[in-house]
Amino acid sequence: MHTGLLHAHSALRWLGLFFLVAAIIDSGIRMKRPMKEGAPKFALFALIITHTQLILGLLLYFVSPTVKGFMAAGEVMKNSVARFFVVEHLAMMILAIIVLTIGYSKGKRAEDQATKHRRIFVAYLIALIIILISIPWPFREVGAGRGWF
Ligand code: HEM
Ligand code: HEM
Repeated sequence: MHTGLLHAHSALRWLGLFFLVAAIIDSGIRMKRPMKEGAPKFALFALIITHTQLILGLLLYFVSPTVKGFMAAGEVMKNSVARFFVVEHLAMMILAIIVLTIGYSKGKRAEDQATKHRRIFVAYLIALIIILISIPWPFREVGAGRGWF
């Protein structure tokens, strides 16, 4: 259960990052060329993938031996790796997903195309930055021993 979830959560980061970047480029172009009609498909895919990451992450949080181990050991806030997995990763990722979802919803409700794409562009760019700095990349102390996929 935990291994499968962790692999899915780990691999899905790439699909999420791909669609986030695609959505930022797409809305960036369309914000300058508001004549181009059509639904923001890349933004919708990025939204669906990050919402799925949220579900997977929440499930992981409650079954993960890593999280359980750190919680049982105590002094979570004093150990930077424990603090990352018990508090920071979850809080920052939820914040990013909230920013992204508000951007998408507000974008969807905008009257004109330029406003729609500008709202998505700004929110997705902020979300991407938060997500990039909150991933336990293998080159970080918190990601030691973890893989790229
Ligand atoms: C804890 C789990 C989740 C929460 C709290 C959540 C919350 C939300 C919220 C607040 C919105 C914005 C509604 C709006 O203002 O229009 C939304 C939209 C959406 N969510 Fe989620 N979501 C969750 C999981 C999922 C999952 C697992 C999927 C799909 C795999 C998903 C797919 C979508 C889609 C497609 C929309 C956009 C609908 C649209 O406006 O076009 N969500 N979600
Ligand atoms: C866009 C959002 C997210 C991305 C890109 C992301 C990415 C990742 C990555 C790359 C890992 C390391 C995987 C590995 O070691 O193979 C990880 C671990 C983890 N994530 Fe996320 N995550 C996201 C959101 C969340 C959320 C919202 C939660 C909790 C509510 C969460 C909970 C966890 C937990 C508990 C682990 C460690 C599990 C373990 O080692 O047992 N993640 N995440």
